[in-house]
Amino acid sequence: MKSNIVITGSKGLLGQDLSGLLSKKFNVIGFDLPEKDLTDPVHIKGIQEFSPEFIINCAAMTDVDGCETNRKKALEINASAVFEIAKLCKKINSKLIHISTDYVFDGEFELPEIDSVPDPKGFYGFSKLMGEFMLLKELKEDFVIIRTNVLFGRGSRASFTDWVYKSLKENKKIKVVNDQYSNPCYVEELSRFINHIIDNGMPKQSILHSGCPEYLNRYDFTKSFCDVMELSFDLVQPVSSKEIGQKAKRPLKGGLSIKKTEDIIGYKFASLKENFYKLKKILEEG
Ligand SMILES: NC(=O)c1ccc[n+]([C@@H]2O[C@H](COP(=O)([O-])OP(=O)(O)OC[C@H]3O[C@@H](n4cnc5c(N)ncnc54)[C@H](OP(=O)(O)O)[C@@H]3O)[C@@H](O)[C@H]2O)c1
Repeated sequence: MKSNIVITGSKGLLGQDLSGLLSKKFNVIGFDLPEKDLTDPVHIKGIQEFSPEFIINCAAMTDVDGCETNRKKALEINASAVFEIAKLCKKINSKLIHISTDYVFDGEFELPEIDSVPDPKGFYGFSKLMGEFMLLKELKEDFVIIRTNVLFGRGSRASFTDWVYKSLKENKKIKVVNDQYSNPCYVEELSRFINHIIDNGMPKQSILHSGCPEYLNRYDFTKSFCDVMELSFDLVQPVSSKEIGQKAKRPLKGGLSIKKTEDIIGYKFASLKENFYKLKKILEEG
């Protein structure tokens, strides 16, 4: 009989992809809004009736600008709920895989390591860092925090690549920032990485990083995407973060060093191009 796995944020970009992949070997139970608001302790308590072998926490308030204006809500889901989930995992002996972000770093230096000191610039990053702290305070084993950055791929909610693809297919001009750097992570790759961890046992290392091997700014990322998708890059106008006027401060040098993670876990993250070709098939199928 398949064992149970609870995926929180199961309707989100990662949660949805992960649910599809893991349903091949687990009985996947999704927890997401509006039915299961994880800021309500009743719903976190409700997880225990499934006695899940793993809980994968993909639920989060990911609206970076929204987190600046609704700080209470951001802390409730990105930090307090993580604490409650960690406590529950301890109580019912479930293993916890929690997803965090490169925005816990200040973006002042390229590709922070798993043991670099966090110093978030915006409230989204701050609330996610609080989530990490609360989890680390509660659990000493059977958990891992996986930080990721700029998730792209096909999802229920339009991701960056969905937006670029749709806009350029419709011949619409778009503006893309050329001063925000990262090593974006294909959502299917992150699901595969999580699956690899599940198959190989929880690592001793408490924090891991995910992303692609290439480090580039969003404009160059878009160019590389357009090359593979055969889209007209002429429609893409480079702009600076200042010009675009985003409410929350973003780390300009975002992204995460994946080297130590690859060595510790024995996993090689695929190149951007490789993943773009996989995504191309999905996008062309519609
Ligand atoms: N996307 C990125 O570029 C990126 C980069 C770095 C790290 N991450 C991290 O990766 C994880 C997955 O991100 P994602 O892109 O898949 O996010 P997403 O698409 O926004 O999915 C998050 C899901 O959590 C749900 N949720 C929010 N508040 C909730 C609550 N109170 N109770 C239950 N569910 C709630 C959301 O519902 P609603 O949509 O209805 O709010 C959504 O379905 C998150 O931890 C995020 O911080 C993402």
